[in-house]
Amino acid sequence: MRILVVGGAGYIGSHMTKLLLDEGHEPMVVDNLSSGHRDAVPRHVFLNGDLRHRVLLDSVLSSRHFDGVMHFASCIQVGESMTDPGKYYWNNVANTLNLLDAMMMRGVTRLIFSSTAAIYGEPRYVPIDEEHPKAPLNPYGRSKWMVEQVLADYERAYGLRHVCLRYFNAAGAHPSGTLGERHRPETHLIPLVLRVASGNAPAVKIFGTDYDTPDGTCIRDYVHVTDLCRAHLLAMEYLMGDGASRAYNLGNGNGFSVKQVIDAASRVTAGTIAVSIAGRREGDPARLVADSALARRELGWQPQYPGIDTIVAHAWVWEQRASRLQPAYAAAR
Ligand code: UFG
Repeated sequence: MRILVVGGAGYIGSHMTKLLLDEGHEPMVVDNLSSGHRDAVPRHVFLNGDLRHRVLLDSVLSSRHFDGVMHFASCIQVGESMTDPGKYYWNNVANTLNLLDAMMMRGVTRLIFSSTAAIYGEPRYVPIDEEHPKAPLNPYGRSKWMVEQVLADYERAYGLRHVCLRYFNAAGAHPSGTLGERHRPETHLIPLVLRVASGNAPAVKIFGTDYDTPDGTCIRDYVHVTDLCRAHLLAMEYLMGDGASRAYNLGNGNGFSVKQVIDAASRVTAGTIAVSIAGRREGDPARLVADSALARRELGWQPQYPGIDTIVAHAWVWEQRASRLQPAYAAAR
């Protein structure tokens, strides 16, 4: 398959590009490097470009035939979306319209869209299935839910076939140790815990110990980045086989608390992780766990790395490599 990977130099997009190449497909990456990394994808498949620029999208999509598009390019920080919602609506919604219109003009009618568990808001029940009410708590979640609704309208009117993949907590790194998570700034639990383990940070803050969970800390469903990418490949193959548009949750169905993640990191790194107890972070639901039965049944998705220790172990290999190879980067963060 020849696939345009928008946002392909970011955390999940770069793993996707590698998977496509490893499986003999032909990805082409468009990324503006606002949060992605130039060295995360091979030079011959990379184009520096921004979704704001419709002319660029038109020229890319007319340069060759594409079987479909995978769209990873978005802003993802929940807290920032509260203080700067415009950035989220322009980047995640308006720029996506540019991409969709360019696709429609060129007759590219298959799209895999990176959505999120944040569209559900405070869970009314767990595990969360795809029918759970959508009540996002912040502009980030709302921007993703808006796009999902836009896609449904584009399908009805223009025949855009799409699969929305609602990620729970993307985590881990490529098993080869060559790719991993490099957000600026980093806000995610596992990389922050591992920075403490590698001596690059003094302690990890635990945001709240008074939640209604067995140990009082928030529970999340961590899903390995490689397993997420495998689901994208299956979803694109499904659309190539004329499957109807769908939305799927992607998670392992196992919840781990913040303390359990820190314990896993202690086991994997054979060290003690210093913690400090902080207040609750605004907008954090107590428990987010996916029901991904639909993706398993309809796509045949079977996570290969469901265990939290494996997810943390792969992230640990990456963390050690990143801080060894890029000391300036490690110091700056
Ligand atoms: N946490 C800490 N200390 C930290 C960082 C995180 O205790 O330093 C806690 C959080 O409060 C939360 C858990 O660890 O309970 C996981 O936090 P992350 O920031 O790693 O991930 P989130 O669950 O907040 O967010 C993820 C994605 C979002 C997506 C959301 C869907 O990163 O993009 O899941 O619910 F919107």
